[in-house]
Parts: sequence; structure tokens; C-alpha cells
Amino acid sequence: MAFRIASHLATAVAVIGLTAGSAAAEEQVEVLHWWTSGGEAAALNVLKDNLKKEGVDWKDMPVAGGSGVQAMTALRARVTSGDPPTAVQMLGYDIKDWAEMGVVGNLDDVAKEGNWDKVIPAALQEFSKYDGHWIAAPVNVHSTNWLWINKAALDKAGMEPPKSMDELFTMLDKFKEQGITPLAHGGQPWEDTTLWEAVVLSEGGMDFYKKAIIDLDTDALSGDTMRKVFDDMTKLRGYFDDNFSGRDWNLASAMVIEGKAGAQEMGDWAKGEFLRADKVPGKDFVCIRFPGTQGSVLFNSDQFVMFDVGDDQHDAQMKMAKAVEDPGFQVAFNTVKGSVPARTDVSDEKFDDCGKKGMKDLAEAAESGKLAGSLAHGHAQPSSVKEAIFDVVTQHLNGQLTTDEALKRLPEAVAAAQ
Ligand code: GAL
Repeated sequence: MAFRIASHLATAVAVIGLTAGSAAAEEQVEVLHWWTSGGEAAALNVLKDNLKKEGVDWKDMPVAGGSGVQAMTALRARVTSGDPPTAVQMLGYDIKDWAEMGVVGNLDDVAKEGNWDKVIPAALQEFSKYDGHWIAAPVNVHSTNWLWINKAALDKAGMEPPKSMDELFTMLDKFKEQGITPLAHGGQPWEDTTLWEAVVLSEGGMDFYKKAIIDLDTDALSGDTMRKVFDDMTKLRGYFDDNFSGRDWNLASAMVIEGKAGAQEMGDWAKGEFLRADKVPGKDFVCIRFPGTQGSVLFNSDQFVMFDVGDDQHDAQMKMAKAVEDPGFQVAFNTVKGSVPARTDVSDEKFDDCGKKGMKDLAEAAESGKLAGSLAHGHAQPSSVKEAIFDVVTQHLNGQLTTDEALKRLPEAVAAAQ
């Protein structure tokens, strides 16, 4: 790895020397990210503002596209042309891949000063560290097995929130009778797989999820439980509206917010959209674990990775890494974003009921061994395998593969991608 600790230290000292006495430091970070929806942008502003107070200017490089597939393509182009951004939002296995290439910066000094070893949970450290060194600053913990329900539609249906797939289908039927779109969905591969992984967890439980998605066991990928999962997906598709294809996730959230749809399966970044629209959990919308998955959590964590861009930006990078782990920032950012803190020592006091539930569920799942990385959001497999699964799931959902074909294709595609 291209660690440049000694020269970085020298530069940091030089920068302090140069800027001491001057009113505002001319420091800048160029940040590549995919936080472009209303809720996401609002959360990002918290970080921009905090850095501004530190004298660090923000140069924005947004690349739209949930789960960051497009952002990673843009990053490859920048690195290939020898001009990487200063800092990059990144998920799980992508962090490992870039670290392996030796192009990322070392955050050990900041991590040591902030005691990150102690306050960042092991499940995140797995991705924040490479070769024993800190190379990423985790911003949050999201999870994907959630269902967001319009409260008025639920009340009208006269139902309690569904706890099983059967109850989910009953609720969706009632929404259909109300003349609204029962299930808001955005037909993009990562959204299809976000829904699919929740169904995998619901039908098979955490042991099955781990066997199929983490261990890539051929029997699990092609057996009876997986058949049920694909059959459920076909059934769920029947509850989408005709225009779901290609829709952005936040537009699907807006359908639920506006009462045009009854529910959406999505990670808890969806809550950011509800909050942005001044909707209140428990009053305007209901957040529950995807039916049949209470007790288990599929997580992903957004982390900032610093690229090796030369010594003159090192000080600004370290300020950014430090700002991200600041406990006050962790509260201010995550209450807006819909995620929960990346640190275990932050109180849930300022979080709303969904946030409190997210923190409690996460702690309990970690304790009981029912915590696993989200496949759709880069925390279960490297991107080659992830994208191979995206293809099968999306083609099946779009009717290009029958369930029999999908069950045959899935293990084949996974094997070919490894
Ligand atoms: C996830 C990311 C979230 C959110 C979402 C949709 O991969 O972790 O922070 O941005 O994509 O854009």
C-alpha cells in the first residue's frame, strides 16, 4: 500500500505552520458520492457545514445512482486518468478492492487519536481496515430489510403491520382494493436485489441467508427455499404499477409519502425522504422490519475512503476523517439520513422511533449472530458476484427468466463470477 505516513506528518506540520495566523485556510476536499436525493443531500449538508467551520472547502462530485454502481464506474475513470478525488463514499467489498490496489490513504493516526478501535463495531472494522491499518472512516450503519408503509392506507385496510409473507400479501391485496399501487418499486437492478435479499431472509431465515448469499452454497442457491423466493418475487411484481421500470428509489418513496402507493421495501435511507417531506414516524408512516425478518439485520455502512492525492491535501483529508467520527456529527447526520451511528457509544436519545428501533435491532442482531452484510449494498460479496446475482434477479423479475431458469442460472452465474 502506498502509505506515506512520514511525509504526511511533515506536511501536516508544514500546513499548520503556514496557516497559523492566517484567517482562513485554503483547504479543500473533492468528494465523490451518490447522495443526490433530497434526504441524502440534506444529510450531506451536515458534513459540508462542519468542514466549512474547520476551514475545509467542499468540492462536490455527485454521481447519481443508488448503491453506488455508477459512482464506482466514475471512480475507476478518475483513478485510471491519474486524477483521483480526495475522498470517496464507498461500500464494503469495494473498499477492500481499492485498498488492495494500494491507492488509498492511511487513517491510523486519526483512528488512534479518536480511539476508533474501541468505538467502531467489529462488523464495520472488517471493511474499514486493511492489513491491520485504518483506511476508511465509517459514517453510518444502514440496513436493508425494512418495509415503509403509508399509515393512512394501513389504517384504512384495518390491519396491524404484517409479520409474515402471507400477511404482507393480504395487506397488498387490501391496498389494491383501495385503488392505490400496493407496492412502490423502482426497477433498477440494485433495487430489485434489495427487495430480493429481504425475501431471501424472510423465507429462509438468517442461517439460509448466510448459506446462500455469504457461503454461495449451490444447493441453497437452487433449492426449494430459493424457489419460494423467486415465486414470491413473481407474485410481488403483480403489485407494482406499470411504470416501475427504471424508477429511482426516492421516487418510489415519494409514491408512499403522497399516498399513491401503500408500501415500499427499501433500506432506511428511505426514512430520509419521509422526514424531508415533514412526515412523522408512527403518525404518517410506519417502519417495520420486512415481514418475517424481525430479529435479523442486513446491514451496509457508508464509509469515506481517502485517496492518495499528494501531501498538500493530507491535512484536509484527516480533518474530514476526524469530522466523520465526531459523536455530535454522528447524531446530527444519522438522524437526517435514516441510518444509525457507526459508533457504539452514541445515545439514541435524539433519534426518532424508527432510529431507536434501528439501533436496538442492530445491537440485538449483532449479539445473537443474526447480523449479516447486505448483498445489494456491497457487504456480502465482491462486486463481480454481486452484479452476477443482480442480472439473474432482474431478468427473472422482468419475466425474461422463468423460476426454473433462474434457479439454474443463479449458481452458474455465481460460479462464473468467482
Ligand atoms: C446505499 C447507501 C445509502 C443510500 C442508498 C441509496 O448504497 O449506503 O447511503 O445512499 O444507497 O442511494
